[in-house]
Amino acid sequence: MIDISFAEIPFGSPLYSEEIKLRDLVLRVPLGLEFYPEDLATEYDSIHLIGSVANSVIAAMVLKPITQTLVKMRQVAVHPDFQNQGIGGEFVRYAESVCKRYNYTDIELHARLLACDFYERLGYRKVGEQFEEINIPHYKMEKSI
Ligand SMILES: CC(C)(COP(=O)(O)OP(=O)(O)OC[C@H]1O[C@@H](n2cnc3c(N)ncnc32)[C@H](O)[C@@H]1OP(=O)(O)O)[C@@H](O)C(=O)NCCC(=O)NCCS
Repeated sequence: MIDISFAEIPFGSPLYSEEIKLRDLVLRVPLGLEFYPEDLATEYDSIHLIGSVANSVIAAMVLKPITQTLVKMRQVAVHPDFQNQGIGGEFVRYAESVCKRYNYTDIELHARLLACDFYERLGYRKVGEQFEEINIPHYKMEKSI
């Protein structure tokens, strides 16, 4: 197993810049999208999580508070060189432990269709019909933790 360490990092810190670079590489570039300042300005009150291997950020995720008990899991990304090795699953379980520490009881997310099986294995359930977001099919998914 790869020696990975997970951490919560401050919005606007140098590691946040690394988080953004990874999210761009994994989530935006393949779709031909770019970041715009208004995307990031809404993130100041979110929880930012990273996974590092040998001081390089290879996993990233954002947890956006929706209510006092509900958080939205967003921007889940694992570097392509490290995918399909169990890191994403470990990272989501770490995120759930962080959510519990902040007294959140429920997590929701918009899963890309290709990632639905990944989240289902981790106990997330589809809610409602398939919909389009950034021009690709998604399902809303939820889990009580
Ligand atoms: C989706 C994503 C976050 C998953 O992260 P990951 O590290 O690849 O996830 P895991 O390795 O834990 O699990 C992925 C698959 O590998 C398999 N796997 C888990 N451990 C494994 C191991 N040790 N060896 C080989 N395969 C393994 C799992 O069975 C899983 O299969 P599934 O997709 O059918 O459920 C990652 O692939 C990614 O960043 N994808 C691109 C961006 C994206 O789609 N993000 C989600 C937006 S909603």
